[in-house]
Amino acid sequence: MRTQLISYVMCCLACGCLGPSQPSSVTPAIETSEAQPAQVLDTANESKIDTPHSNEVIASLDLRTMQETGRFKDLKIARANPISDPFYKRAKATFEGYELNAILALSPKYKTLDPTRHSLRFVCLDGYKTTFSLDSIRGARGVLATRVQGDTPVPWPVKARGKQKQTAGPYYLVWDAETYDEKRPWPYQLTQIEFISNESVDRRLGTHLKNLDRAGEALFRTYCLACHSVNLQGGQLGPELNVPKNITEYRSHDYLLAFIKKPQDFRAGSVMPPSPLKEDEIKSVIVYLGQLKDAKVCSNASQCSDYMDALHK
Ligand code: HEC
Repeated sequence: MRTQLISYVMCCLACGCLGPSQPSSVTPAIETSEAQPAQVLDTANESKIDTPHSNEVIASLDLRTMQETGRFKDLKIARANPISDPFYKRAKATFEGYELNAILALSPKYKTLDPTRHSLRFVCLDGYKTTFSLDSIRGARGVLATRVQGDTPVPWPVKARGKQKQTAGPYYLVWDAETYDEKRPWPYQLTQIEFISNESVDRRLGTHLKNLDRAGEALFRTYCLACHSVNLQGGQLGPELNVPKNITEYRSHDYLLAFIKKPQDFRAGSVMPPSPLKEDEIKSVIVYLGQLKDAKVCSNASQCSDYMDALHK
């Protein structure tokens, strides 16, 4: 299981697992914080769910905008030599960029974060979003790399990945003297770092629902959420799975089971990887997904589009 997890994660826990770029309209401006009052939408059966931006994203650091507007210019150039890195898989590369801690400290919100209530979410070019605890970045030196040192072409060497040629840019988070594993974030093709509230994310993932399939929820978070959203919360590489229609409202159980096991049996070249989960684990994820239909944040196209507008304000 552990080896499976690691190889799966090698492909996908880092960012930029192929796929098109995220449309720029959904890229929030540098450090958006929300001043809007919490707008509340009624859902069919559940109590109330906050509009996401009322408290989910505490601050969003849009790295390219920050760099372009000179916010990094007083930071010292930092270097890191990971023992191995997940993108180039080179043994002795020297990466150059800025200390992760120095970048985070550019946001005044950073020092107000509480490890028990907040997390970091890394957003990548293709809509992949991966969440890590604040503790995951402690005890080692992370460098937000902007280039590989001494390499051509500058700033990033190109690497073939599947049918595409890619680089790790615009930003690649690497850890000095560390080997890649799932404990720390190593996102490549990184564009944004968000500070998020665990509570409001939990709510949109249905954690408040009674009798929720908790095992299915945990598996979904580990194996699916970085690519898929539910209630518009999660990655944007794959389709949304709960609103306005829950996936179990238009796909049969047998289809879901077979598709999740091996998307390539249905669609050649599917970007979704074959699932490393056992059959009963996949069933548990399907039960969990079905339960979310009782906690929709919006239940028709126009409500969902209003909700998304609120998200990206
Ligand atoms: C690397 C990103 C990625 C991961 C991880 C991932 N998916 Fe997907 N998923 C996709 C993409 C992309 C599609 C669209 C696939 C296609 O069209 O071939 C998709 C499609 C789907 C569909 C839609 C099928 C349909 O026909 O409507 C379901 C259901 C689904 N994924 C469930 C899951 C579940 C459950 C997990 C976790 C076990 C998961 N996915 C993990 C990217 C991912």
